Amino acid sequence: MKVLANDGVSQSGIDALEKAGYEVSTTTVAQEQLINYINENNISVLLVRSATKVRKDLIDACPNLKIIGRGGVGMDNIDVEYAREKGLSVINTPAASSHSVAELVFGHLYGLARFLHNANREMPLEGDSNFKGLKKAYAKGTELKGKTLGVLGFGRIGQATAKVALGAGMKVVAFDPFMEEANLELEFFDGQKVNFEIKTISKEDVLKQADFLTLHVPAQKDYVIDEAEFNMMKDGVIIANAARGGVLNEVALVKAIESGKVARAALDVFEKEPKPEMQLLMNPALSLTPHTGAATNEAQDRIGAELATQIISILG
Ligand SMILES: NC(=O)c1ccc[n+]([C@@H]2O[C@H](COP(=O)([O-])OP(=O)(O)OC[C@H]3O[C@@H](n4cnc5c(N)ncnc54)[C@H](O)[C@@H]3O)[C@@H](O)[C@H]2O)c1
Repeated sequence: MKVLANDGVSQSGIDALEKAGYEVSTTTVAQEQLINYINENNISVLLVRSATKVRKDLIDACPNLKIIGRGGVGMDNIDVEYAREKGLSVINTPAASSHSVAELVFGHLYGLARFLHNANREMPLEGDSNFKGLKKAYAKGTELKGKTLGVLGFGRIGQATAKVALGAGMKVVAFDPFMEEANLELEFFDGQKVNFEIKTISKEDVLKQADFLTLHVPAQKDYVIDEAEFNMMKDGVIIANAARGGVLNEVALVKAIESGKVARAALDVFEKEPKPEMQLLMNPALSLTPHTGAATNEAQDRIGAELATQIISILG
């Protein structure tokens, strides 16, 4: 059976599929030639990331297609319901990048706590002429150990982030309207395991208690963090948003930074992608990444391996 990984797939995925007798092509076929390619090459499984679109016309025109697989989470580029109605299996890998996002959040939080985002901007410019000045400017760093991390949204990534926090010696408080408690198992290099049971508390209590705050909610109609929520937070809180642009009001964030309510913040996602607001890009209180939360080699390996396992279990 033939698999076309049109947006690429990791070597771990290719190896697992080939071992099970599949033929894997990683050619990137242009969108308008995709239907022909699938039919002419008798492709049974089409794997995509976010670039390739799998719409009704393709699903109708490729009757031999059995599985559509999305490496990653969001399936906006696939007509999922329609494909399933037509008897296709549609699969994705929602858990594969949770830990990658969690680590990126901690990269930002540790960086912000010690002004690394500023020092990295200023050292190339002033490191030789104003070393002592910079040393003084960035002297009042804080530690994460012993502080409280507030987690909004306690699903896969929220829990993965909480585990990193617990490993770093933080207290974790969490809010999730659809979850009362979660059992987190921390695994250590020598096989030791420690279990933490975290009971969720109200959103207001999380906002009031958190020294550091991180968002892991899905996209939704209203802001999860807006002016009212900023007002409930501790003065000098540090915030990270690696969830989705639009869950945090960026204008209210800038205001909260100006008032001193928020000390510093990290953004991996933006209301306007791929052109974030200039007032965010130029803001010295912000640590910024271009939506790279899930982008690790390990996540790509897990995605490939997970897709292969699912394909083999569906098709044999
Ligand atoms: N930065 C990146 O590169 C990157 C990568 C992957 C996923 N994400 C995003 O991360 C977010 C979380 O992903 P996940 O895999 O953990 O999803 P998930 O579905 O496992 O967890 C989301 C949780 O949020 C909860 N929730 C919903 N509305 C809420 C609200 N208003 N307040 C508090 N909690 C609420 C849900 O009950 C759920 O438990 C998503 O928005 C996803 O798009 C970002």
